[in-house]
Amino acid sequence: MEKKWWHSAVIYQVYPRSFVDSNGDGIGDINGIISKLDYLKNLGINAVWLGPVYKSPNDDNGYDISDYRQIMDEFGTMEDMDRLISEAKKRDIKIIMDLVANHTSDEHAWFVESRKSKDNPYRDYYIWRDPVNGDVPNGITSNFSGSAWEYDETTGQYYLHLFSKKQPDLNWHNENVRNDVYDFMNFWIDKGIGGFRMDVIELIAKLPDEDIIPNGPKLHDYIKEMNRKTFGDKDMLTVGECWCADIDIAKQYSNPDGSELSMVFQFEHIGLDQIPGKDKWDLKELDTLELKKTLYKWQTAFHDDGWNSLFWNNHDLPRIVSRWGNDKEYRVESAKMFGILLHGMKGTPYIYQGEELGMTNIYFDDINDYKDVESINMYKDRLAKGYDVKDIMHSLKVKGRDNARTPMQWDDSENAGFTTGTPWIKVNPNYKEINAQSQVDDENSVFNCYKKLINIRKENEVIVYGEFEPLLMDDKDVFAYDRVLGDDRIRVICNFSGNEVDCTLVNAGDKEKQLVSNYKDVVTGKLRPYEAFMIRL
Ligand code: GLC
Ligand code: CA
Repeated sequence: MEKKWWHSAVIYQVYPRSFVDSNGDGIGDINGIISKLDYLKNLGINAVWLGPVYKSPNDDNGYDISDYRQIMDEFGTMEDMDRLISEAKKRDIKIIMDLVANHTSDEHAWFVESRKSKDNPYRDYYIWRDPVNGDVPNGITSNFSGSAWEYDETTGQYYLHLFSKKQPDLNWHNENVRNDVYDFMNFWIDKGIGGFRMDVIELIAKLPDEDIIPNGPKLHDYIKEMNRKTFGDKDMLTVGECWCADIDIAKQYSNPDGSELSMVFQFEHIGLDQIPGKDKWDLKELDTLELKKTLYKWQTAFHDDGWNSLFWNNHDLPRIVSRWGNDKEYRVESAKMFGILLHGMKGTPYIYQGEELGMTNIYFDDINDYKDVESINMYKDRLAKGYDVKDIMHSLKVKGRDNARTPMQWDDSENAGFTTGTPWIKVNPNYKEINAQSQVDDENSVFNCYKKLINIRKENEVIVYGEFEPLLMDDKDVFAYDRVLGDDRIRVICNFSGNEVDCTLVNAGDKEKQLVSNYKDVVTGKLRPYEAFMIRL
């Protein structure tokens, strides 16, 4: 397989609104990000996936874009953005832009035109349908609760919005839409960015009249066309957000012939703690054997015919240490265990801001503290449907997207060093204990475990290209595997549970062979709570 820079890279996701505020308005911004590039360089990452910074009325924190060629006022100016790209380049860090092109804001000029009249030249940029029997055209629902159709009085038709009603879906079957998207992609490519993360890309080719939403029949034609007309001849990282990709579909997207994308984010492991067939708020205990089977299935699926991405977290997901680890007495151990388990695998790892510090979920008791449109819509929807408010609040604490969106915890000063003003969302009160300043120089910190893991990937080809050999498939507590390349064999052993467990793979002599670990010593035949390490055999 032809080697690519993004095979051995580690990507760091920045959620701009919550990273660093440089001017005291309580909102993170581009100058704030620039001020932390040295921190990221020290961690060792190769690229930043930057959440959307385009002009936006912020109904969905920037995922509702009103101008793809301008920067959001709160985040700064185009000069700041150019400086971010060049300052990052000086440190060998690439900027991966979030490409949100399944939908725009309803305040985008295309939609402002589109809704004016049925014969407006931009009418067909969006998806308009007549009412059926005085009601919505069909039963398609929004990912943010309720119908996906919104009635527009001006013309007496409904438009489709798979997310909030301020996020009308573009009609990708219209060639002009596609060419306009390629144009602004090229605008950003010309600025020297390193690639794109493609928001809900699997939805672009939907056929709403046939109830085909993800994976429409023309999806891969459109992606191939986009590839040819934009990044195809550049050395870029492109990653598609694909909730519904199976292994065959993922191989198609990430075909090493380079005709589509570099890789996909697939979420099969992420959905295992919800009741099948229901939505993410309907909680179910995680079955660790099922998790192991799912992770390992994806690990053994690709040989020279595709590429994985690896992640536990992003801005839509709860913090992993709170979700499947222990964010109390074993916070540090379990945070490191998740790092070690993931970073030994085959694929490109993504670290979400604060994950490298073991940041935890926020536990808001008041619905007014939540800012996320998905959470607020769900709260109202379920309340109206008669759910118990206690259950709703519990679901939010476990799964709400604001868990990952509280400000980055830089130090133990007021507001965690995120802002000198009033933060747009409350800071997690545990910032005095969990913050970057206290971890950067502590060799036993979660930060330094992540730093070591990133470095291990750079220095060991076996982690990047080695085959994956599963171990202990039937053990519900211990996750173990080997990575093998020629004579080189690295073994990863992780106790996924908060109990001490027996493990025949562990020998006291392993201590000297360890590349990274989360306990000071090794006990033959045993693993302590969340104990995890990587050894060279
Ligand atoms: C993706 C984004 C999410 C956003 C949605 C609509 O899932 O990650 O944050 O709300 O798309 O753009
Ligand atoms: Ca600011």
